[in-house]
Amino acid sequence: MMKGLEEVSDNLCRPDECDTFQFMAKDMGLKVLHPGGLQSTLDLARMCGLRRGMTVLDVGCGSGTSATRLVKEFDCRVLGVDVDRELLHMAEASINKIHENRVTFRYADAHELPFENDMFDGAICQAVLVFTDKRRVLQELTRVVKPGGFIGAVELAWKQEPPSSIINMVQKVLCSASINAAEHEEWSTLFHSAGIVRVSSELRDLAFEIRDLFMNEGILKGLKAMYKIFFEPVPRERMKGMRELFKESQKYLGYGLYTGRVT
Ligand SMILES: C[S@@+](CC[C@H](N)C(=O)[O-])C[C@H]1O[C@@H](n2cnc3c(N)ncnc32)[C@H](O)[C@@H]1O
Repeated sequence: MMKGLEEVSDNLCRPDECDTFQFMAKDMGLKVLHPGGLQSTLDLARMCGLRRGMTVLDVGCGSGTSATRLVKEFDCRVLGVDVDRELLHMAEASINKIHENRVTFRYADAHELPFENDMFDGAICQAVLVFTDKRRVLQELTRVVKPGGFIGAVELAWKQEPPSSIINMVQKVLCSASINAAEHEEWSTLFHSAGIVRVSSELRDLAFEIRDLFMNEGILKGLKAMYKIFFEPVPRERMKGMRELFKESQKYLGYGLYTGRVT
């Protein structure tokens, strides 16, 4: 880990105590909470070679939007797990006829997955590893995925060592878990250390685009979120802060798509 980040990385926030996460998920009612939104989920799935009939584990699935979208788009099966029971209830409520029995959600901690070895064709996690012990969770994913299966992640990534002003801004506007992002190259190293091979990655810029909000949340939820952003002072200030952060920190902070195969 880069030196400047080492000093602040001990103090991770947990999602259930994370003010930003609670604000986005519970106050704003946003369902897609990883960088790049559903577009990055679909891109990740294609990078992973997700195909019809495969069974995928979505670790830290949140309110389940990625899981249900993958089922619809790829005709696969998804089991989503999370430690937030409120989000799991929302995920269950989002299952409809289109998904039939192909998507399920249950409580499980990524550090200790209650599954036997080699159970899944692949596993993904999106904006989850930064909240966890990355090595341990990657090892757990490797254990539950069959040999030859895929692991995919969408996570915040440092592009280069940030100055302390940027670290402070990221901590203040996002949260301390963001500081736990690895450097882009380091994510690939972490994948290799967990025994994952054929690792490939793609580094992208963080951005807040209105069209992504509608793609992620749908028209009605997108409009509700827009109303809050324009007319309610707290959401307006927070979203303004985020847009400023993305602009100021663009040289240093982005996000990456990471994939590889289990041996
Ligand atoms: C930023 S949200 C991302 C949610 C979802 N993946 C998405 O893209 O919208 C992080 C999620 O990880 C979950 N999480 C954090 N630590 C976890 C753990 N140890 N095991 C399982 N889920 C965890 C949180 O409860 C939360 O739903």
